[in-house]
Amino acid sequence: MNTIKVAAIAGLFATLAAGTASTSSALDNGLARTPPMGWNSWNCFGSDINETQIKAVADAMVSTGLKDAGYVYLNLDDNWMGKSRDADGNLQGDPTRFPKGMKELGDYIHSRGLKFGVYGDRGLKTCYFRDFYKETDNKSGSYMKEVQDAKSFASWGVDYLKYDNCVEAPNSNQQQDYERMRDALANCGREIVFSVCAWAFKDWAPKTGNLWRTTDDIKNTWIAPSGSWYKGILDIIDKNNTYASHAAPGAWNDPDMLQIGNYKIKIDNQPIPNDNEYRTHMSLWCIMAAPLIMGNDIRNMTQVTKDILLNTEVIAVNQDSAGIQGTKIKSANGLDVWCKPLGSKNGDVKAVALFNRNAATADITVNFSDIGFTGEAHVRDLWKKTDKGLFTGSFTMAVEPHNTAMLKIAKPTGIRTEQALLQQKKAQFSAVFTNGNIVVVPLNAKGQFDVSVFSSNGRMAAQLKNKTASVSLPVAKSGLYVVAIENQGYMEKKTVLISR
Ligand code: GLA
Repeated sequence: MNTIKVAAIAGLFATLAAGTASTSSALDNGLARTPPMGWNSWNCFGSDINETQIKAVADAMVSTGLKDAGYVYLNLDDNWMGKSRDADGNLQGDPTRFPKGMKELGDYIHSRGLKFGVYGDRGLKTCYFRDFYKETDNKSGSYMKEVQDAKSFASWGVDYLKYDNCVEAPNSNQQQDYERMRDALANCGREIVFSVCAWAFKDWAPKTGNLWRTTDDIKNTWIAPSGSWYKGILDIIDKNNTYASHAAPGAWNDPDMLQIGNYKIKIDNQPIPNDNEYRTHMSLWCIMAAPLIMGNDIRNMTQVTKDILLNTEVIAVNQDSAGIQGTKIKSANGLDVWCKPLGSKNGDVKAVALFNRNAATADITVNFSDIGFTGEAHVRDLWKKTDKGLFTGSFTMAVEPHNTAMLKIAKPTGIRTEQALLQQKKAQFSAVFTNGNIVVVPLNAKGQFDVSVFSSNGRMAAQLKNKTASVSLPVAKSGLYVVAIENQGYMEKKTVLISR
């Protein structure tokens, strides 16, 4: 049966009614109105990239369903370039590893319905060229070649540029270097998302890029040893949270690319994150409206990796059109509550993450007053894709060590208003108490329907699925019950008082 769950309907309504957050000084090139989603070669392949492998990644993005889930950018990172420019000084792909050239690769990626991203550098050399091709003066960086390089990118069909920060030219100015490439892209004749990779938040970044890195490089570990040049998942979550107010449609804090599914990649001797930690990685990136750029070998994914990367309800939190970066609203004894308003800042629907930083399973409670709600609210578990029911005042859930529960919490009023607006329908069902049963009768509804009965404490008392005619649900105890009926994407709710 094709149904839309309570919270999902509420989210849609809120999106329709959305007012959007904005920062007046953000770059306004009309691109990346929701956080960019895609894949980048660096976290799993490093410098070892070539045409055949990248085309196989493009194929996998389609065949695994990642593309349909929204991951559309296929981005080459460092070391796609040849060791020298061509006779006219143009950047070119490495002739051995990318023999057919960048335009042909871009065409292939586009033919799969994907978008093409490349990497560049605002200085004299890229970071990899700095470290490994010390002897050659290859001019892999775009310093003072911004216009020429932006034109090359446009001619290859590039849709996204990640612009790194290595080998600063003498007497150059970081902000101006990035601004020159921003302006070159604006005039190159093609729409290209600009990803600023300056390894820390800079005041000028929101008016320069569509996204900007807020931290050092992410590596495949939960926490980095203190003093290391890289960061772990947890270090980054806390840092990126501090810049939340700068995020808006078209302008995103970038806490770096995903490490989810990199079970074989180690940094130093650090432990590889476990599945709970990867789930937290995804949850918090979604709550923080971060770009979702995968960094694993998507040609070979475990079922758990797929479940984490492909949960459409969790992704929908990230992609919410209001573009508000969620924040940590409470943290005590290692137990966090994070909240991301959906649809609009003060609307009827919130995404909430319950994040357990500790080594033992613990109950985490979200008080509805902390997310701006009073009274009753519907709670849906997004990782499990199940409705938890109607709750009053708060909701508590046990969360495993380093794991995160993702919830969508919606005011019942929001749902009712939304129903009216979306459906403009008269009652499709009746629900009455008679002879010890709640009896649900379809009035105008067609096709199959599901009936769920919730008691006043929000617990589900009974459920029947895929019904086509009247149903009777025996109810033993007196009290107020909410009957929710779902029929072909339409949700109708009735309140039934049972007194014996
Ligand atoms: C820097 C960037 C990384 C990656 C490497 C490639 O460290 O921050 O994301 O692009 O360069 O050399």
